[in-house]
Amino acid sequence: DVASFKAADTVVQLCETRKPKPESENLSFGTVFTDHMLLIKWSSGGGWEKPQIQPFGNLSLHPACSALHYAVQLFEGMKAYRGRDDRVRLFRPMLNMERMLKSAHRACLPSFDGAELMECIRKLVEVDQDWVPHSDSASLYIRPTFLGTESSLGVKKPSSALLFVILSPVGSYFSTGNKAVSLWADSKYIRAWQGGTGDCKMGGNYGASIFAQYEAVVLGCQQVLWLYGDDHQITEVGTMNLFLYWINEDGEEELATPPLDGIILPGITRQSILELTRQWGEFKVSERYLTMAALRLALQQKRVKEMFGSGTACVVSRVGRVLYQGENLQIPCADEEHSLVSRLLKELTDIQYGRTESDWTILV
Ligand code: COI
Repeated sequence: DVASFKAADTVVQLCETRKPKPESENLSFGTVFTDHMLLIKWSSGGGWEKPQIQPFGNLSLHPACSALHYAVQLFEGMKAYRGRDDRVRLFRPMLNMERMLKSAHRACLPSFDGAELMECIRKLVEVDQDWVPHSDSASLYIRPTFLGTESSLGVKKPSSALLFVILSPVGSYFSTGNKAVSLWADSKYIRAWQGGTGDCKMGGNYGASIFAQYEAVVLGCQQVLWLYGDDHQITEVGTMNLFLYWINEDGEEELATPPLDGIILPGITRQSILELTRQWGEFKVSERYLTMAALRLALQQKRVKEMFGSGTACVVSRVGRVLYQGENLQIPCADEEHSLVSRLLKELTDIQYGRTESDWTILV
């Protein structure tokens, strides 16, 4: 039983005027925020304070704040979806809470009861429920964030912290919509390594990836295909997990994604795809190592069916081309209707928008 704030103690202060809501078409990812936010403070002396739901606004931080200097920070990404029945649902939110606690442990930030935070988030979404788009191609992105707020420059475990949650109505993550993405695969930059923090959702992992992302753009690609090790293992794509649907070396039809061995972010969409496809029982589903050599050989032998990224922001995103060692590898994909990626997109969004009954969703 960890020391935790309690959702039942939440103090709600509503804003006086509400902002106008944007059109749900053409929303640029994460640029518009709702009327309220959730803040919960912690200190080593006083423990957790009462959760506060209050008008959205700027934070005030000490300039020595450890999140700003040493990246003592982490975040989560989840969404609320409005169904045709007008009800708002969260998708597997306890998995986000568990991952957040794991990241907090790695960041030396304090623990809390994940179920209590989930209930606070549910209340926040309820307060701002009119912001959940009336559309099944848009949703309300939920960004829990946790900062070390130690106001000294010593590199140490913070003695104070701030957990906050902001909400943003979003459409598609990529400005280009759901077209196949092109990737630059090179071992020049490394996203994550054994013993590092790649399996935690820490801001530093993403901030440090931006430089490589722009190099990919200069080389005519949209995202980075992150490689690892001398054998150029394929690990993640951009900010997403990666799946390869192919006929493997042993001639088996297989959906494969790298194992959670410490350098892979344990994605909730990743886990859901593994669970769904294992339930179907139509082909082998593996968490296994994949290398560029194996991919290149499979492409030559026409054994690759599809390759795609998975994440909360875009659900699934097909890969069309990989630039590797100066060569453009074209990745095939079945036509729209018959592809695995479209079937997964449909099955997952059917659950998220409540068109399919599922215990993976929680009503707000
Ligand atoms: C994802 O959901 O794919 C992400 O990792 C989102 C991101 C904006 C960091």
